[in-house]
Amino acid sequence: MEAVFLRSSPLRGAMSVPGDKSISHRAAIIGALSRGTSAIRNYSPAADCASTLDVLRQLGVDISRDAEVLHIVGRADSGFEQPVGPLNAGNSGTTMRLLAGALASQPLDITITGDDSLLSRPMDRIITPLRIMGASIEDSDGEGHPPLHVQGKELSGIEYRIPVASAQVKSAVLIAGLRASGKTTLIEIVPTRDHTERMLERTFIEIKREGVIVTIEPGIPEARDLDIPGDVSSAAFLVAAALLCPGSDITIPSVGLNPTRTMFLDLLKQMGADIEVTHEEDDGWEPRGSIRARHGQLSAIKLAQEDVARSIDEVTLVALLATQAEGNTEIRGAHELRHKESDRIKQTVDSLGALGACIEETEDGMIVRGPCPLHGATVSAGRDHRIAMMLGLAGLVAEGRTTVNGWEWTDISFPGFVNVLKELGARLE
Ligand code: S3P
Repeated sequence: MEAVFLRSSPLRGAMSVPGDKSISHRAAIIGALSRGTSAIRNYSPAADCASTLDVLRQLGVDISRDAEVLHIVGRADSGFEQPVGPLNAGNSGTTMRLLAGALASQPLDITITGDDSLLSRPMDRIITPLRIMGASIEDSDGEGHPPLHVQGKELSGIEYRIPVASAQVKSAVLIAGLRASGKTTLIEIVPTRDHTERMLERTFIEIKREGVIVTIEPGIPEARDLDIPGDVSSAAFLVAAALLCPGSDITIPSVGLNPTRTMFLDLLKQMGADIEVTHEEDDGWEPRGSIRARHGQLSAIKLAQEDVARSIDEVTLVALLATQAEGNTEIRGAHELRHKESDRIKQTVDSLGALGACIEETEDGMIVRGPCPLHGATVSAGRDHRIAMMLGLAGLVAEGRTTVNGWEWTDISFPGFVNVLKELGARLE
C-alpha cells in the first residue's frame, strides 16, 4: 500500500495517540503469569501487541474484550498449555524476547518464530543470560537467529551484566527471574525503559532499583487493573510533524511521560523546539500528561550513546528534524539501530538522501547537514513502521509529492496514523 504526502502547513488541534506498545506487551505477558484476572484499559491496537495476545491465547490464556477493557485470566497456578504448533511473534521483537523469558521455566517444548524481519534479528542477547539461568533455549543457526526452541527447565537466579543497552533483554531476564530459585541481579550499561520494573512493583513483586542495577526476588505477580497511557513514541511523530510544518500548534493529551522514555523531548528542547509538557497527578505507576508542540526554528545537536539508548525509537525522527535545523547534527553510538525492524541507520540515510537531504552514514550513526530543502520522490518503508512514518512526515515539508511505499507497516505500532495527521490538517492525496 502507498501513501502520498504533500507539503502542509499548519497542523493544529488536539489528538490522542493509541495506548503504549511497550507497556501493553508487559501488561499482557505479566497478566498471563499472574494470579487473578487483570482488567486492562487502553491496550495498544498495534499489530505487535496483537501478536502478543495471539501467542498467549495459544498458550491457553483466556483473553476477552468487553468494550474498551481487555480481561486476561492469569495462569500462575495452572501454568501455560502446550500449544499445537510454533508460536508466531510476527514482526515483534518484544513479543519474542519477553515470551522466551516467560517460557524458560514452563514445563513445555515450544518453538517461537516470526516474520522475515524478526528471523534476522539477534536473539543471542537473551539466549546467553537465560542459558546461564539454566534454560534450554536453541537458536536456528548457531548465530543467534530465530526460530527459538525453548524447553522449560528449573532456573536459578543470576547476577548478570547486560552487554547491550536493551530493555527487552533486561525484561526477558526479569520475567524469567520470577520463577527462578534465588534472586536475580542485572546491571545495565545505561538505564533503559523501566516499564517491566514498574509493572512488577505494581503486581507486588519484590524488586529493588538503584541506578543501573535492578534486583528481583522470585514471586507470583498479583493481577491488577491497569489504565495504559498513550504511547509517547507514537506521540513523537505528531510532535515532529508540528515542529516541521510552519504555523503548527498541536496538543497530545494523556501520554506516558515515564522519564526513561522522554529523552526525545529533552533532545528537541536542546534543538530549541517549543515544547510544553504538563504532568497529570502521579498515580504511583506510570507518569502521564500532555505535550504541546509549536513550530519554530531548530538548531543542530550532537547525540552520544546514552542519548541514543534513551531515545532509541525516535532517533530516525531526530535525523529528519536535523535536515531542517541550522547546523550539522551528529548521531554517534547508535549501532543498535542496525538491529531494529530494519537497519535503521541505512534506511534513514538512504531514504532521506533520496528526498534530497544532506545526510551521511557513519559506522555507528549519521551526520546531517541542515537546513536542506527536501523534494518529493517515491521512497520505501523498508518493511519498517518507524521508517514509514518518518518518511510520511518528510513528505509534509518536501516540495512536490512524496510517495511512501509499504505504508501498511505503520499498523505495526500506530494504526490510523494517517487519519490522525489528516485531522490535524496534513495534506495527503
Ligand atoms: C522495547 C525496547 C527497545 C525498543 C523497542 C521496544 C521494549 O528495544 O526499541 O521498540 O518494549 O522493551 P531494545 O530492547 O532492543 O533496545
